[in-house]
Amino acid sequence: MTTDTILVVDFGAQYARLIARRVREAHVYSEIVAPTISLAEIKARAPKGIIFSGGPKSVYESPAPSIDAGVYELGIPILGLCYGAQLMALQLGGTVTRTGQGEYGRTELTQSGVSPLCPDWPARASVWMSHGDAITAVPDGFSATATSAGAPVAAMHDPERRFFGLQFHPEVVHTDRGSEVFDHFLIDVCGCLPGWTHVSIIEQQVAAVQAQVGGDRVLCALSGGVDSAVAAALVHKAVGDQLTCVFVDTGLMRAGEADQVEDTFRRQFKMDLVHVKAADRYFAALAGVTDPERKRKIIGELFIRIFEEVARDLGAGDGAGAAAAAAAAAAPGDAGATGTGDGPRFLVQGTLYPDVIESGSDTAANIKSHHNVGGLPEDLAFDLVEPLRLLFKDEVRAVGEELGLPHEIVWRQPFPGPGLGVRIIGEVTPERAEILRNADAVVVEEIRRAGLYRELWQSFAVLPAVRTVGVMGDGRTYAYPVVIRAVTSDDAMTADWARLPYDLVERIASRIINEVDGVNRVALDVTSKPPGTIEWE
Ligand code: XMP
Repeated sequence: MTTDTILVVDFGAQYARLIARRVREAHVYSEIVAPTISLAEIKARAPKGIIFSGGPKSVYESPAPSIDAGVYELGIPILGLCYGAQLMALQLGGTVTRTGQGEYGRTELTQSGVSPLCPDWPARASVWMSHGDAITAVPDGFSATATSAGAPVAAMHDPERRFFGLQFHPEVVHTDRGSEVFDHFLIDVCGCLPGWTHVSIIEQQVAAVQAQVGGDRVLCALSGGVDSAVAAALVHKAVGDQLTCVFVDTGLMRAGEADQVEDTFRRQFKMDLVHVKAADRYFAALAGVTDPERKRKIIGELFIRIFEEVARDLGAGDGAGAAAAAAAAAAPGDAGATGTGDGPRFLVQGTLYPDVIESGSDTAANIKSHHNVGGLPEDLAFDLVEPLRLLFKDEVRAVGEELGLPHEIVWRQPFPGPGLGVRIIGEVTPERAEILRNADAVVVEEIRRAGLYRELWQSFAVLPAVRTVGVMGDGRTYAYPVVIRAVTSDDAMTADWARLPYDLVERIASRIINEVDGVNRVALDVTSKPPGTIEWE
C-alpha cells in the first residue's frame, strides 16, 4: 500500500512538529525535513504537498533559513505559514516589510476574498498570529484573501500553481477552525487520500517488520514503559513466536510493574518472555553508592550485562549467532547471510519519530541516538528493528490501544531507566526501595482516583534517605520523609510543579503515613524546572 506524504519544511519554529501532527490527525502521513533538503530528495520522496513552517527569524536576517527556489517549479502544491508565507512571497517576487506593527496572540482576521483553504469562513475570524514582518505586496499570480490590523496580506494564494500563504497559524488550537485549513489543503488541493489511520499504521509496520526479519529470531527488552511495550506488541503481531522478550526486574520498578508485564505479555499475548529476577544483583552492586551518576552507570551497565547473558543463553550475543548477525549486518538486505547461528539476529528498539527528525535550520541534520530501555550498547551485534520510528507519542499510544495493550501500560507516565534508584536520595537498599515503592503506589493510586493521572506529566514519590522525628500514638518515631513530586510539562525540558488540590495532598499524606511502614512525614515539592529537575537525582 502506498501512502500519500506531505513534507513539512522546518524553518526553526517550535510549530513544525505541531504542523506535522495536525497533518497526521487529518489521516495523512507527514515528514519533517530541514530547509536544506535538495530538490532531488524532494522528488525522491514524491510528496503530494509541501508545508513551510513558521520560524523565529526575519526573512531579512542574515543568515535566515531559505529553500532552493526550484521547489516552486516542481508542480507540487505549497502552503507557507507565517515565516514560510513570507519566504514564499519574497522568493516569488512579492514584498515583505518590517511594518513596525507586529501581532502576537489572538488577532482578528478580515476576509477580503475567498480562499480555497477557508471557503466558508465568516467575514471576521479569530486567529493566532506571531509576526514582526508582514507581506505588503503579493507576487505575480497571487491574490490576497484576508487582512488584519498588522498584516495587509494575512492570506494569499495562486490558484494556478496551487501556492498558499497564511500569516496566521492554523496549527494552534487558538485559531478557530484551523484544522479545516489543513483538511482543505490536504484533501481538496493536494488530493491526498486520508489513509494514515491506526489500523493502516499497524498494517504497514507489520508488513515492514515481516519483510525485514524474514524467518529470523528477534529479541526485545521490555521496560514496562509504553514504547517498548507497543514495539513488542507490533513485532509480535508481525512475527509471532520468532520474538523473545526480556524483562529484567531490577528491584527498582514501580509497584505491580513486573506482574503486569507477566500478565500482559505472557498470559494475554502468549509471548515468549524471559523474566530475569535480578533485584539481588542490583542491590549488591549499589551497596554503599550515593553518587547519582555512579548509580546510573552501575544500573545501566548491569542491565547490559544481564541482557548479554540472556542473549548468549539464547544463542546470540557474542556466540555463533552474533557472528552471523555481524556478517549479516555487513551485508544488509542479504537475507541468505544468516544461516550459521540460531540465536536472535534482530533487536527491537522503541525509537520514536521525535528522536529521528532531521530538523532545525542548521545545515547538519540533527539526529539524536535514542537510548531506550537502559541504553543498550551499540556494539551488541544485532540489526535493529524500530517499528515506531515514524510515530509520534500520541500515535504510539493509539496503536498500543488498537493492539489491545492495557490502558495502564499505554497511558503510563514516563519512568526513568534507573527507576527508583534515582528516587532514593542516598544509598539504595532493599528496605528503602520497598518503602518508596509502597509510598509511590499510594501517590499514583490517589492521583488516578482524582482523575489527574493523564493530565500530569509525572507524579511520584521520592525518598530522601534522612530520618526525621515524629510522634505517633504515645511514641516518638524516627523515620523517613517522603516527598510528593508532581509536575505538568509538554516535553520534560521545562516543567511546572502541579497545583494539586490540598485535600488530595492531605489524603496522600495521611495514607502514606498510616499505610507505609518506615515513613513519618510527607512533604510536597513546589519546585519547577528550571531551577529544579523533575527527578531529584
Ligand atoms: P529531569 O530529572 O532531568 O528529567 O528533569 C527529565 C525527564 O527524563 C527522565 N529521566 C531519565 N530517563 N534515564 C531515563 O531513561 C535517566 O537516567 C533519567 N533521568 C531522568 C525523567 O523521569 C523526566 O521524564
